[in-house]
Amino acid sequence: KAGALWGGRFAGGPSPELAKLSKSTQFDWPLAPYDIRGSRAHARALAAAGYLTGEELTAMVAGLDELADAVASGRFQPAETDEDVHSSLERGLIDIVGVELGGKLRAGRSRNDQVATLVRMLLRDKAVTISTHVIDLIDALASQAEANEHAIMPGRTHLQHAQPVLLAHHLFAHCWPLVRDLERFTDWNKRADFSPYGSGALAGNTLGLDARLVAAALGFSAVVENSIDGTASRDLVAEFAFITAQIGIDLSRLAEEIILWNTREFGFVTLDDGYSTGSSIMPQKKNPDIAELARGKSGRLIGNLTGLLTTLKGLPLAYNRDLQEDKEPVFDSIETLEVLLPAFSGMIATLTFHTDRMAELAPAGFSLATDVAEWLVKRHVSFRDAHEITGSLVKFAEQHDLDLHEVDDASLQTISAHLTPDVREVLSIQGSVDRRDGQAGTAPVRVAEQRAVLVARVRAL
Ligand code: ARG
Repeated sequence: KAGALWGGRFAGGPSPELAKLSKSTQFDWPLAPYDIRGSRAHARALAAAGYLTGEELTAMVAGLDELADAVASGRFQPAETDEDVHSSLERGLIDIVGVELGGKLRAGRSRNDQVATLVRMLLRDKAVTISTHVIDLIDALASQAEANEHAIMPGRTHLQHAQPVLLAHHLFAHCWPLVRDLERFTDWNKRADFSPYGSGALAGNTLGLDARLVAAALGFSAVVENSIDGTASRDLVAEFAFITAQIGIDLSRLAEEIILWNTREFGFVTLDDGYSTGSSIMPQKKNPDIAELARGKSGRLIGNLTGLLTTLKGLPLAYNRDLQEDKEPVFDSIETLEVLLPAFSGMIATLTFHTDRMAELAPAGFSLATDVAEWLVKRHVSFRDAHEITGSLVKFAEQHDLDLHEVDDASLQTISAHLTPDVREVLSIQGSVDRRDGQAGTAPVRVAEQRAVLVARVRAL
């Protein structure tokens, strides 16, 4: 039967219901180019072990090349009756080189070691593509930080005004998790650098094939140590899905801020027309749909990871067909990020920041109170007392509807003898950020250093 990789011991073909359930070509086709690369390498290993003559190898490789072209151009497509990408491509190869030669390729391998290897290969390529998109986003954030390097904004905790910070410091705070995501991919790649090819169905093969030959041809530094692990583990797929989910969450937290900043109440940013959407009924609307979709799609990315982990939970060794369920979620996560990241980067790169509005709000909510308390500490008041005194100052200012710097000298003295008029020297937002010059602080000198370290970390990947 065309396309079937099994059947010898069966009286009839699969029922239509089984065939429909079993079929995976609608989602495993992205593995096709990797499958053919794997087959080329496997053919060489078979030849090296004496199972193909030189002539047969040449014909086999030529046939695989032709098949690869047909797949790339779309001329070769999975047939309705093909179970999965592997069986489909065997059918395609046999059409080209004949059943006599084509039927020899399958010796010493199983779809179990094949699929484990091919998914790894695809994920390793996608780690590079996604990383490139993440770097573009880091670049967009860093460029905005640079373009607005002097801007000061209200820093928040609990979404309440807390202390003034540089906008650049805040934007870099969104870069660091993304840098770690890039590092996660690099680190993951070290663990993914082992080829399962040669593990067979679960126990290895009897043909004396050199798995290292195959591994090297497929870009792996080594072969897995255990054929059961090689065919049955999917922790590397789950880890990859985690990294994509974490990227989704990093985008989502930034997206939430863009959505808030873009409201009339905040008024911190204006979105570029090309990166915002209108309403079908309200002519005035300009909506932050990219940010909202980023926030929404993070749920989908988490769902893909959760689904995959749930599939793996409690699966006995070695291969089980459940493992076929690894591909759809992780492929969906890849596709999601490949569409989302460029749109998101474009939105960030084209944002206009209203730095006057940010600066105006930066001292609001008594955000310089900590500066007063620390000014007192520098005058050798204990922090406990300084906190208390500053609290009283805030209470007084609030009651009289004043900003801290507007409280007059006499009132300062009434609140505490320690509050001399020169306390006002710390009551500027610029002074406040300038003084936070300890390691990792928001002072402009530190932020400039931070930027250099960030750039170096991305370059070192
Ligand atoms: N399509 C399967 C998968 O993705 C590979 C085939 C293994 N099937 C089997 N019955 N051993 O996992």
